[in-house]
Amino acid sequence: MTDKRKTILIVDDEKGIRDQLSLALESDYKILVAATASKAINAARQDKPNVALIDISLSPHGGDKEGLDLLTQLLENDPTVKAIMVTGHGEKENALQAVGAGAFDFYVKPIELEELKIIIKRALYLQTLEIENAALAESLKRQEGFSEIIGDSPRMREMYKIIDTVAPSRYTVLITGESGTGKELVAKAIHSRSDRAEKPFVTVNCGAIPEALLESELFGHEKGAFTDAHARKIGKCEMAHEGILFLDEVGELPLSLQVKLLRFLQDNVIERVGGKEPIQTDVRVIAATNRPLAEDVERKIFREDLFYRLSVITVELPPLRDRDDDVVLIADHLLKRYAAENNRSNLVFHSSGIQVLRAHDWPGNVRELENRIKRAVILSAGSKLTASDLGLKGAAIEGRRSLQDIRDQAVVDHIRAALLRNDWNISRTARELDISRTNLYDLIEKHKIEKGK
Ligand SMILES: Nc1ncnc2c1ncn2[C@@H]1O[C@H](COP(=O)(O)OP(=O)(O)OP(=O)(O)O)[C@@H](O)[C@H]1O
Ligand SMILES: [Mg+2]
Repeated sequence: MTDKRKTILIVDDEKGIRDQLSLALESDYKILVAATASKAINAARQDKPNVALIDISLSPHGGDKEGLDLLTQLLENDPTVKAIMVTGHGEKENALQAVGAGAFDFYVKPIELEELKIIIKRALYLQTLEIENAALAESLKRQEGFSEIIGDSPRMREMYKIIDTVAPSRYTVLITGESGTGKELVAKAIHSRSDRAEKPFVTVNCGAIPEALLESELFGHEKGAFTDAHARKIGKCEMAHEGILFLDEVGELPLSLQVKLLRFLQDNVIERVGGKEPIQTDVRVIAATNRPLAEDVERKIFREDLFYRLSVITVELPPLRDRDDDVVLIADHLLKRYAAENNRSNLVFHSSGIQVLRAHDWPGNVRELENRIKRAVILSAGSKLTASDLGLKGAAIEGRRSLQDIRDQAVVDHIRAALLRNDWNISRTARELDISRTNLYDLIEKHKIEKGK
């Protein structure tokens, strides 16, 4: 049984005091004792104490240097440790110095046990609060990080770095990538890590709005500007004041509006349709496209000057098939989400499901993955999602398997056969394969090899 009690380290060169304190505290706490600073440090390294009671004048020659040094080293070793300095009469000055150096409190001899016990309890209480607080802060930090963007592959890590670098600036960012790679998600991540996080994030989908309406959607209009303009309308550029305007599918912007957008990017001034006054705004623009914009520039359907303005910083999202095993991580995340939404929290992937997820080419990227999982969660009957639940056939994709896949499959087949031969006896199988047992366990886990499949 592990000892759940809090641990107290008693450091004193006088045996009498060590014994007295141990005896008084051992019914409530786990006790470590040390007569010297070096012994105390060793004990603390081995057995992380929660509280340390330190005699400030540890050295036999008097003076307080040793006690203070020990305090510093203990705190370096573990900043959460609460040190209580025990001092003799007339050493209060030194005790205060110790508190300045990070000790929790000090205590003047002669020892009154009841009083000391209260100080210890207070120290432990504070320590618990501090630890809980740190854990909370840590988890908040993770959430405001890239909690929504799943992926750990080198290409994605590179992208997180770029996002971190560009987010705090005012630069215009162009996000490129195939359809469904997460461009909108990245735009939002930049917003939430920028100094405009508390200000609006306004999206305009340039491809979804008819050309005739797009100008007023972007810049707004005055009442009576055209037949249907019954009232003044504030445009998205103006709504995004002090925040971020996200121009999705910017490659779809008609040439006539490209000129106007360029002007807006240059001076952040807008004019409502039918308006007389230019309006100054403060807007940062992030744009996204799945079109090869540079080619569109050559084909003269996208203005070169606008392209350069927009692409000051370009973030390129890799297609899902170039993200190693991220597909499994993202699939797992999405399965958890949709399974929970559908009250099917026990749903997991069957090994055949994982295999096809890895092997599929993902022309529709994460969006395709999301749709396949959503559909499978609703339609599947069993407790494990198989290849066919995901609408993917193992055989049909044989032609495009990567070398790594083929290698992995050979390893899996070989291990599975050996396990069968040895009735799943791990030691015997490991010996036959000439690898260690832990190595075999790791491979079984990594490739999700299960009995009876
Ligand atoms: N790395 C990821 N981790 C988790 N979910 C993701 C990831 N990338 C994308 N998604 C999800 O996939 C879906 C598609 O992402 P998003 O809309 O950002 O892609 P897009 O590149 O803008 O696509 P399109 O070009 O079709 O507009 C969204 O539901 C998004 O939440
Ligand atoms: Mg999009």
